Amino acid sequence: MKVMSDVVTHGGNREAIAALTQQSAHDLLDFSANINPLGVPQNLQPVLQQALTELCDYPNPDYPELVAAIAKWHHAPTANVTVGNGAVQLIFELANALKAPEALLLAPTFGEYARAFHHAGTTVRYLTLAAAQNFVVDVATVIADLAAHPQTRVVCLCNPNNPSGQCISDDALVPLVAYCNRHDLTLILDEAFMDLTVTANHGWANRLTARDNVVVVRSVTKLFAVPGLRLGYALTASVQLQQALRDYSEPWTVNILAARFGQHMFEQQTYLAATATWLQTEQPWLQQHLRQIPYLQVVPSTTSYILLKSQVPHLRERLWQAGILIRDCANYVGLTPGYYRVAVKDHAANQKLMRALWQLTDFQINGVKIIEKTLNRWGHQRFRQDQRHVGVAGRFASPVDGAAL
Ligand SMILES: Cc1ncc(COP(=O)(O)O)c(C=O)c1O
Repeated sequence: MKVMSDVVTHGGNREAIAALTQQSAHDLLDFSANINPLGVPQNLQPVLQQALTELCDYPNPDYPELVAAIAKWHHAPTANVTVGNGAVQLIFELANALKAPEALLLAPTFGEYARAFHHAGTTVRYLTLAAAQNFVVDVATVIADLAAHPQTRVVCLCNPNNPSGQCISDDALVPLVAYCNRHDLTLILDEAFMDLTVTANHGWANRLTARDNVVVVRSVTKLFAVPGLRLGYALTASVQLQQALRDYSEPWTVNILAARFGQHMFEQQTYLAATATWLQTEQPWLQQHLRQIPYLQVVPSTTSYILLKSQVPHLRERLWQAGILIRDCANYVGLTPGYYRVAVKDHAANQKLMRALWQLTDFQINGVKIIEKTLNRWGHQRFRQDQRHVGVAGRFASPVDGAAL
């Protein structure tokens, strides 16, 4: 049996790296957290201001306006919607409500599912995705696995999967949903990034029917760039699952700022259109440029982050020197050291990442370009200095927009 650590390390620890590398946190470009680079929608700032005047009262624990806005967006009845303090809180609530003896997770996938099930006393089993197949999720394999393990009562799929970026199409999910219905299994679909994919897929949120044992979990964090606000929601048309969620929900988990924000977020058509334009442009741009880096293997992604593999030692730490943070994915179950995830950011930031990667063939200390670093037999560092002009790109010519690096 696998011994699980209770702590999942996430990206986004900008302050700690700034202190470690003696840089200003403000100057660091954080590619480790996958947040819409358009930032918090401007139109919602007055809404947040106005919500401050409501801080003295408890919110209505049923959140009628928020629930109505989410239900309207998904063309669903309000009974289908449960709101929570971020998607993560709903995942923990679901694990507690389901009390399953065993859950099936993908490996690699978002680390909080294992933690949630672990807390709920549920044994976690993993279906390891093959690196050689770019971590694609084959639904027939998932069904075969479930058939071979009848004690598994819940399966949790992250779609698109984090960190691999692969998306299962809605049509491909049909046999799995049917299997779960037939065998009374619960399927949790985490669609935290579904609105940030470059595919034409809309997600299962729009296909729920009352006979489906399916819960879709969505996050507001990524799409609207509000990780600090904490807002997510679950959708299910199953009356039993709705009841289970109601039974286990704590009151007032959504604060009034998040509730008012959420009430108006889907009205932000200009913001949503600009987000789609950014993603459709920058995601393929970054993916294509990353593929040209000779020391990187790129896992094809459909969403706003990209999984990479590299043999370059300490790639993450070396990028710190260029003021860039990337997510080291070595701690994901199913991945090995050498895997990293980068977010798709705005064009200027993406260019900066590409420049840093092209310049990384060598590295610099105190402005001197070092092409080899060894320890002598007393353990002191020895550097071999590049004879060429410092600042000239490394061994490779960079194609980043044809710009000089
Ligand atoms: C796949 C996935 N689901 C859920 C979450 C949590 O989202 P929230 O901020 O809404 O709790 C994350 C956060 O990184 C995530 O990557």
